Amino acid sequence: MRPILAIVISAAAALGLTEPGHADPAAGKAIFEAKGCNACHYTQGPAREKTIADQLAKKGPELWYAGSKFQKAWLAKWLTEPKPIRPLAFNSLTEENKGDHPKLSAEEAAKVTDFLMTLTSDVVKPGSVKPKKSAKGRLIFVKKMPCSGCHAFPSRKKFKGGRSGPSLVGAGERLNPDWILAYLQNPKVFKPVKMMPVFVGILSPKDMKQVAGYVATFKAKK
Ligand code: HEC
Ligand code: HEC
Repeated sequence: MRPILAIVISAAAALGLTEPGHADPAAGKAIFEAKGCNACHYTQGPAREKTIADQLAKKGPELWYAGSKFQKAWLAKWLTEPKPIRPLAFNSLTEENKGDHPKLSAEEAAKVTDFLMTLTSDVVKPGSVKPKKSAKGRLIFVKKMPCSGCHAFPSRKKFKGGRSGPSLVGAGERLNPDWILAYLQNPKVFKPVKMMPVFVGILSPKDMKQVAGYVATFKAKK
């Protein structure tokens, strides 16, 4: 390579002007810190909260396994247009979610997404669940188990379900199906202070897989 070209390329790389689509987690981490995201989110596992007081002191959900939990395309878009996920304010059972989450530009969001996607948990086994609209999954979610009493979900005509848990409307675009199963199987790894009932020993491993696959079919819009 001619020396002048090499200099131009390395200068461009140093400025972050590399071609779009090129993952840049280090730049994303720097933006995450500069924007003060870490005032509300921690990004290093394992889970730190041990008591209810620890949980209540958190100002936002933990992100140390974001790369295992979220789908990349959803994450990059949500960071530019954050719409409420939890109907109620974080850690509250009475206050509405004001929908005032900080926003990033598309460029910042792409880099922060590259950073967050590097944060994974090895408890999540890739390829363990496929989205599947089964009658059994539906039966568990809507009837056998109280899932729908706490979680909004898309139903035939409109959205139904409870408001105390995060909305699962659009879970099929937002969540990694393998993470849904891993969370049901190992809730303590992700949420040592339980805000949701534990289904280990209540749902069989097969039922867990079925309901995880069912949740993974939930669309955002009809
Ligand atoms: C003042 C506290 C606060 C700050 C600062 C903040 N967040 Fe959040 N974040 C929250 C809360 C609260 C939620 C839950 C929002 C909801 O459920 O609608 C959230 C949700 C998220 C989620 C989805 C997590 C999940 O489990 O649903 C991501 C990703 C995220 N924030 C990234 C960021 C990034 C990147 C920044 C910096 C630009 C940032 N946040 C700044 C409080 C904060
Ligand atoms: C008593 C209310 C309640 C019931 C019943 C319940 N959940 Fe939850 N669920 C929650 C709460 C609260 C959270 C948030 C936990 C946290 O962040 O600590 C949650 C989190 C989740 C998440 C992660 C969502 C996200 O974006 O972080 C999934 C997936 C989920 N529940 C699925 C289920 C399924 C499947 C069932 C039934 C087998 C179920 N839930 C039953 C309250 C409930």
